Amino acid sequence: MPFERIGDLADLPAGSMMEVVRGETRVAICNVDGALHAIDGLCPHRMGPLAQGALHGTMVVCPWHAWEFDCVTGANDYNPALKQRKYTVKVKDGAILLDLD
Ligand code: FES
Repeated sequence: MPFERIGDLADLPAGSMMEVVRGETRVAICNVDGALHAIDGLCPHRMGPLAQGALHGTMVVCPWHAWEFDCVTGANDYNPALKQRKYTVKVKDGAILLDLD
């Protein structure tokens, strides 16, 4: 699947997240010190919207019951075998491009 422009890097400063929704799919995009990472944005606990939570370093904190996932690896902090799917995200000419495939 081709990359889709989902926003501008200027709107996603370091330490922040944004959410992309396409049908049933939600993706959380994290800016960790200028490096972007994208993980499945639906929490496996009760389907909370991860991108609407907090970002502490590389850790995404679910806004509903505070489960945490590393946005670099997708792994849950308590059970690393529980991993969120990762998506490929990149920046080109100031635009954020996401591959939802
Ligand atoms: S829905 Fe995410 S911790 Fe419960």
